[in-house]
Amino acid sequence: MSAFLTLYESLPRQGPGDRQTLDFALRIIGTGGSERILDAGCGTGADIDGLLCWAPTGHVTAVDAHAPFIDQIATRYASDPRVDAIVGDMAAQSGPFDLIWSAGALYFLGLQGGLHAFRKKLAPGGALVFSHPAYFTMSPSRGAQAFWEGEGEVLHSDAVCDAVREAGFDILDATSLPDAAWEAYYTPLQARIDALKPNATGDMAKTLVACQHEIDGWRSVKSETGYLQIVAVRQ
Ligand SMILES: C[S@@+](CC[C@H](N)C(=O)[O-])C[C@H]1O[C@@H](n2cnc3c(N)ncnc32)[C@H](O)[C@@H]1O
Repeated sequence: MSAFLTLYESLPRQGPGDRQTLDFALRIIGTGGSERILDAGCGTGADIDGLLCWAPTGHVTAVDAHAPFIDQIATRYASDPRVDAIVGDMAAQSGPFDLIWSAGALYFLGLQGGLHAFRKKLAPGGALVFSHPAYFTMSPSRGAQAFWEGEGEVLHSDAVCDAVREAGFDILDATSLPDAAWEAYYTPLQARIDALKPNATGDMAKTLVACQHEIDGWRSVKSETGYLQIVAVRQ
């Protein structure tokens, strides 16, 4: 297994996000309480408790491609019939779902590909919430562009919204994820880096350097780029 995944398995979440931003999005959508929810690319399931608070008599299908993440969720929710934890491709779940929640994961399918795949799984009027890399300036610096190196094409937030509308959604809100949501991801990651660094060798040592580079990079470019959280409903 890669050092990267070993490191990430020990984190409470695997990308930016927090309860405040989840509550913000779900308040905009409004829930009846019994929604069928897909947590697409759920990682170790940091958002499941929040989703269940908004749908206490609903159901969460938590899917991720990485089995050890799903094992953690299956153990944590073993006695809760409202949660199914599935190892698999988030694009291959059949639905229909009333809400698809995808924190920092849709972009693995490509923006258009992910929007198209998720739209097909939504019930009429169903909602999609996802966070997605974006520039907040029309002329991002070299540092801002370098931050996303290897992550595919990153668009200005206006262009991300255009793509969402073109894919057949109405946008209820599009807001940049606040710093606190990034800190919820990076603070535990920094603690793991600091703990492992003294004895790290080989791939793990390289992974820790790369993660430190990412954290430092974000701090220097966060006014220009980050994640856009989009709250949308299927037309
Ligand atoms: C940046 S992490 C975000 C995890 C989680 N949503 C969170 O915020 O903590 C992206 C996740 O998407 C998963 N992933 C990527 N492509 C996937 C796919 N096609 N099907 C299922 N999971 C996928 C990865 O394994 C990873 O756990």
